[in-house]
Amino acid sequence: MHNKLKTMTILGIETSCDETSICLIKKSENTINTLEILGEEILSQTIHKKYGGVFPALAKREHQKNLIPLLKKVLEESNFSIANYQFLLSNGKLNRIKIILEREPVLLKNFIDFIPKIEKPPIDAIAVTNGPGLEPALWAGINFAKALSTFWNLPLYPINHMEGHIHVALLQNIKNQKTKNKNKYKIIKPKVPALALLLSGGHTELVLIRNNQNYSIVGKTLDDALGEAFDKVARILGLPYPGGPEIEKLAKSARSMRNIRYRMTNIKLPRPMISSGDLNFSFSGLKTAVLYLVKKTGRLKVSDKANIAREFEEAATDVLVNKTKKAVEKFAAKTLLLGGGVMANTYIVNRLKELAFKENISFFVPQKKYSGDNALMIAETALFHIRNKKPPGLFGAEGNLQLGPIIS
Ligand code: KG4
Ligand code: ZN
Repeated sequence: MHNKLKTMTILGIETSCDETSICLIKKSENTINTLEILGEEILSQTIHKKYGGVFPALAKREHQKNLIPLLKKVLEESNFSIANYQFLLSNGKLNRIKIILEREPVLLKNFIDFIPKIEKPPIDAIAVTNGPGLEPALWAGINFAKALSTFWNLPLYPINHMEGHIHVALLQNIKNQKTKNKNKYKIIKPKVPALALLLSGGHTELVLIRNNQNYSIVGKTLDDALGEAFDKVARILGLPYPGGPEIEKLAKSARSMRNIRYRMTNIKLPRPMISSGDLNFSFSGLKTAVLYLVKKTGRLKVSDKANIAREFEEAATDVLVNKTKKAVEKFAAKTLLLGGGVMANTYIVNRLKELAFKENISFFVPQKKYSGDNALMIAETALFHIRNKKPPGLFGAEGNLQLGPIIS
């Protein structure tokens, strides 16, 4: 007989880059494969648009400013009381909080102004991203999580951001027609070995999942991440940051107007490393090829930009599909999982879906709103760790944290 499975509520915090996100999830009594989102906020820092990229110090400052207001919203959405309660704050505890948040003065002030004044919410554990990511940004979330866990005496779990991107693909929305509750999810257990293709602004990785928590990196970019290449190509074309969605829009418009003769319909960009034999990627040469093409062409019409965007997207996708196919066959993968901000791209996702269909393997992609950075994936991964009896721990930010060994 199994022990009765208790209700478990987990607070997830994500600050690894330019999204500040907080999420509260609940696993109900005796259920193992469902969860409910009680409250959730994802704030994309728009301030970076002006600079065309993410500045770590600026991202940290924004996280500091936004964490408490977002937590407040999430507690309200979860129907947890934030009425004036007035905890008796001992000097000892106050000093500990001051030490934890000494490098985040704005956050410290917001914390002291809010947390001691509310009743301790019914939360069982706190989970926070400890890497990979921008270290100053990561520290804001980690120190916030440490201060909360100290104040409320709750266990604290470090979560690998990339593992979060994998787990969130496995959530399947359960729509309850009667209650209209859209916040319940089934947690799918993938058939293994599984392959995860993770594409974001900082990462391009093919991860082999042999079982539960046994991850190895079987392929990765040798230079730019794919999201970074999208952003750089967008900048070359004079498009705003972040470039991924802009390139996608333009590429789509070019595809829908293929029958119209444009000056540059015959442009051809390289498919870097497509025949390299290994599972690694390289996107910096592709970006440079776009730069040369643009220089050679001179003034670009909108239609030229659209055609370049289309060819860039197709060149990158050809390489992704080719390498993923090789990996699926090499490791006899039964499942393909996609994750990371670039997976908001419908063209890329559809081509990989087609591959999974041809290879006759299961295919999972996150809901569009969860392809980018979010705290749901952090809370959900913590739930998985807790179920697998992984202990909470003491930790710091690890900008280059890896999911597992690199194997070739
Ligand atoms: O995972 P994510 O939100 O943050 C990181 O951890 O990096 O990924 C952000 C990246 C950016 O480079 C952005 O341009 C890219 O994902 N991206 C896209 C699309 N939407 C976002 N790339 C291609 N097509 C999109 N629709
Ligand atoms: Zn990410």
